[in-house]
Amino acid sequence: MISQVFSDALATPISSINLDFLAMLKLKTVLYKRVLLTSVIGLLSGCSDAENTATDDTARWYTSEQLVQGKVIFSENCAACHGTDANGQGEGIVDWKVPDTNGIYPAPPLNGQAHAWHHSLKVLLRTINDGGKPLGGTMPAWKGHLTETQQRLTIAALQDYWPDETYAKWRVIDRR
Ligand code: HEC
Repeated sequence: MISQVFSDALATPISSINLDFLAMLKLKTVLYKRVLLTSVIGLLSGCSDAENTATDDTARWYTSEQLVQGKVIFSENCAACHGTDANGQGEGIVDWKVPDTNGIYPAPPLNGQAHAWHHSLKVLLRTINDGGKPLGGTMPAWKGHLTETQQRLTIAALQDYWPDETYAKWRVIDRR
């Protein structure tokens, strides 16, 4: 039943985005200020900020060195379950969408094919740090094993497999 909850979460991206509600609340004040500022600038300059296009959103937050480090950490700690190249074909996994005989779901792909890109950086970090158990899953917690910096680097490693289009959509989610 617990896995059912998780699979429902997989099937309904919106509900898990809502998990980041607190972060959104915090951002609200910042956004108000930004909207105010943008409209003032818009009035002054006579143009809108509509040209703020998605092309900027394909620019990755990590450097190539960070990516190299992240790939090493990912292959040592994550690839066994999530698959080389984060493709969801970890050891013994035939189909990540099919639970085992105990109803437990395997590790999903993190390469943009599944659900990971629906989560803000903050939620991704929390999932990695705390593991899946708080949400009824089985992923181990990395708190105490990987520092926050190392956890962030694993995110760079898996995000590098996301196509630009997916990454740009994630940037929008991440800003909410
Ligand atoms: C022992 C197997 C295992 C290992 C090792 C593992 N994971 Fe996971 N991971 C899972 C499972 C299973 C899930 C699905 C949720 C659950 O059951 O907890 C998951 C879920 C996730 C998610 C959420 C995916 C989504 O679609 O929302 C992220 C992000 C993630 N893992 C990142 C990592 C990173 C980064 C590492 C390495 C530091 C790692 N995992 C190591 C098994 C593993």
